[in-house]
Amino acid sequence: MMSVKFRTIKGVQDILPPKTYLWQRVEDAARRIFSLFGFSEIRTPIMEFTELFIRSIGEDTDIVEKEMYTFQDRAGRSITLRPEGTASVVRAYIQNNLYNLPAPQKFYYCGPMFRYERPQKGRYRQFHQIGVEAFSIDDPYLEAELIEMLWLLLEHLGIEDLNTEVNSIGCTQCRPLYKENLLEYLKGNMDSLCSDCKRRYQHNPLRVFDCKVDTCKGIISSAPKITEFLCNTCKEHFSRFLSSLRKLDIPYSINPSMVRGLDYYTRTVFEVTTTALGAQNAVAAGGRYDTLVEEFGGPKTPAAGFAIGMERLITLLEEKTDTEPPQPDVYIVSLGTDATDRAYTIASTLRREGLWTELSYGMGSLKSQLRRADRFRAKLALIIGEDELKRGTLTCKRLTDGFQGEIKLTDVVSDIKRFLNHDQDT
Ligand code: HAM
Repeated sequence: MMSVKFRTIKGVQDILPPKTYLWQRVEDAARRIFSLFGFSEIRTPIMEFTELFIRSIGEDTDIVEKEMYTFQDRAGRSITLRPEGTASVVRAYIQNNLYNLPAPQKFYYCGPMFRYERPQKGRYRQFHQIGVEAFSIDDPYLEAELIEMLWLLLEHLGIEDLNTEVNSIGCTQCRPLYKENLLEYLKGNMDSLCSDCKRRYQHNPLRVFDCKVDTCKGIISSAPKITEFLCNTCKEHFSRFLSSLRKLDIPYSINPSMVRGLDYYTRTVFEVTTTALGAQNAVAAGGRYDTLVEEFGGPKTPAAGFAIGMERLITLLEEKTDTEPPQPDVYIVSLGTDATDRAYTIASTLRREGLWTELSYGMGSLKSQLRRADRFRAKLALIIGEDELKRGTLTCKRLTDGFQGEIKLTDVVSDIKRFLNHDQDT
């Protein structure tokens, strides 16, 4: 028995082939579809100064309060592994003066995020997001367009049975009045609130909506709703957003209790959920954040975006798709040292021709090498032994239908392409 000396840290995981092919498929599709909407890739560092996340996500949020991977670097500075992507993109937008470029600027990113959450299905400590952020567009059509782009991707990947939940959480004008009403309501229920919510009441009452404690959830479900307090501009924005969704044929439901777990949002927020994932039902989420750029020292710039949880999306895809890896074009079976040496030069030639070629390195009998070729699901097996070498030929066997023939070593490339193309025709 082997004893495994090292294992991954709790809540993080290896992503192995063939699953990685599924990840690549999603990433490729996202890149292609996002580029149709004018989004370019941005890559920001995985670590940032801690203050960046405290100032954007908010001091009293679950993420900042208890989920960040924060440490001191050797110079004693507080550094955090990014728990999300928006704050970093906004920082990069300002630091690199991207607001001087022609507006609107639109970015997407893919990569790992880190949150010290209690791991369970669909919830990890290192997880991955594909996210997008668009700057300088005030029009509520932007949020509808973002959701359309998300739907297009999910539809393309064959994912169905999704719900889009939307809400408006108002702006700096109307939210204070709502907060007053919420505080009034919570005051009347203070004795039944958990200690976290009592603190939230003091510092950031909207965060009571993040509470997972059952008694608090009960109280909060009857709390006044923000949508009843929206100012006229926010009301108009929300109604134009909803009518854009209808024009785009995107089904939605309004969830007046959804405030999202990050503080930077203004007006529109949304989540795409599914019943297929159990408790961790949000596949993607986002919203508008019109004040963040300015709060970070940039010019007044409206913005909105969303992020998809890759692990959750992959779980949904796995239920629908097979994760078979792609097939090699050629598997070279070689018997004997000279034949194996020749196999190496043939492989080199074929790879330069763009054909995926696997080698047996001469290991094992003819039978076991052919079995391996089958296991790889190679389209063709090339068999080369000492006799073939003397005759200057190879045996080529099409593994899909068993058809085989001799080909000359001098004609390997053209003959193999013929064998492969025939495979495509039939
Ligand atoms: P978020 O709702 O915190 O938003 O995360 C977005 C998505 O990431 C979630 O809907 C979920 O699919 C996935 N996710 C979050 N935490 C975990 C976890 N521990 N394990 C697995 N998946 C997880 C944001 O991060 C915002 N930055 C989205 C955004 C972009 N808003 C505007 N622009």
